[in-house]
Amino acid sequence: MKLNIALLAGDGIGPEVIDQAVKVCDAIAIKFNHDINWKPALTGAAAIDAVGDPYPDETHEICMNSDAVLFGAIGHPKYDNDPLAKVRPEQGLLKMRKELGLFANIRPTFTFPSLIDKSPLKRERIEGTDLVFLRELTGGIYFGEKGRKDNGNTAFDNCVYTKEEVLRLAKKGFELAMTRSKKLCCVDKANVLETSRLWRETVQGLEKEYPEVEVSYEFVDAVAMRLVQWPSSYDVLITENLFGDILTDEASVISGSMGLMPSASVGENNSLYEPIHGSYPQAAGKDIANPLATVLSAAMMFEDAFGLKEEAQAIRNVVNKSLVEGIVTEDLSENKTAYKTSEVGDWLTENI
Ligand code: IPM
Ligand code: MN
Repeated sequence: MKLNIALLAGDGIGPEVIDQAVKVCDAIAIKFNHDINWKPALTGAAAIDAVGDPYPDETHEICMNSDAVLFGAIGHPKYDNDPLAKVRPEQGLLKMRKELGLFANIRPTFTFPSLIDKSPLKRERIEGTDLVFLRELTGGIYFGEKGRKDNGNTAFDNCVYTKEEVLRLAKKGFELAMTRSKKLCCVDKANVLETSRLWRETVQGLEKEYPEVEVSYEFVDAVAMRLVQWPSSYDVLITENLFGDILTDEASVISGSMGLMPSASVGENNSLYEPIHGSYPQAAGKDIANPLATVLSAAMMFEDAFGLKEEAQAIRNVVNKSLVEGIVTEDLSENKTAYKTSEVGDWLTENI
């Protein structure tokens, strides 16, 4: 199969972890007889430095003309510490999500049996955890009107949702639940927020179309708590943009390292695969970052964007093998020798 993949390495550790995923994908392509055409493009601070725009039109064209996008990370401290910066790397990410129509962000959280004791949570609490967040990605407070008034002394960020936006995300949630244990949790703050009441009402309206799915409605604060108390009690969770941003970071620690969790962002016509971690600038260029979240994102890409399940499974198998054999970066190595980012990538490639 011919696979056209846009390659957006981005900032910080992005290029290093992307390099490993490319090596792994190329090895898979040889093994399964595919032809990958990588199309690198600029994004984030790297794009601001080069052309003054964190998501240049040329990058958008490349993404639109690809079958999938593989993405590293975005963000640079020189912008974080400058509240007056006119243009920020993160704007590129938001613009990219909006322009590619990536309204559903799929973030799984699962445990690896070989790493269960790496989790800050007790083994008996997390064993068997296998949940998926579906985070709405192109609406809510991230994209509502924002600004200042009173000479800059008052600031506002509006949270806005249309029924249509909730509906398309919720449908994906029900469909995903049907392929899993048929349990769906709608996470909101309907005791306070009007947008949450619209979410709840819309999801309730869909229940009759999916009579087999058991739906629960929980407030976001309670979910934040139960997520670390009994994560294995959840399966598919749907939620709005900001709640999803926060809860998926919280959920990522369950597995033991943020460097392990992949994600997919999908829309009607495009899909993008990225690790859930950020650009981790302190580690940039040191060859120490964990590449597995990006490698596992590539596995999601093979399966979801191209329907290539065996290829995806081959990647997951080799990742599991590396964990069992202790071929891991310093976030997971503990008393063992830590491998470099590139060494982990080489090992995975050789073992494919
Ligand atoms: C994420 C990130 C982004 C977000 C930032 C970098 C804009 O935290 O993908 O979760 O808030 O969505
Ligand atoms: Mn986030």
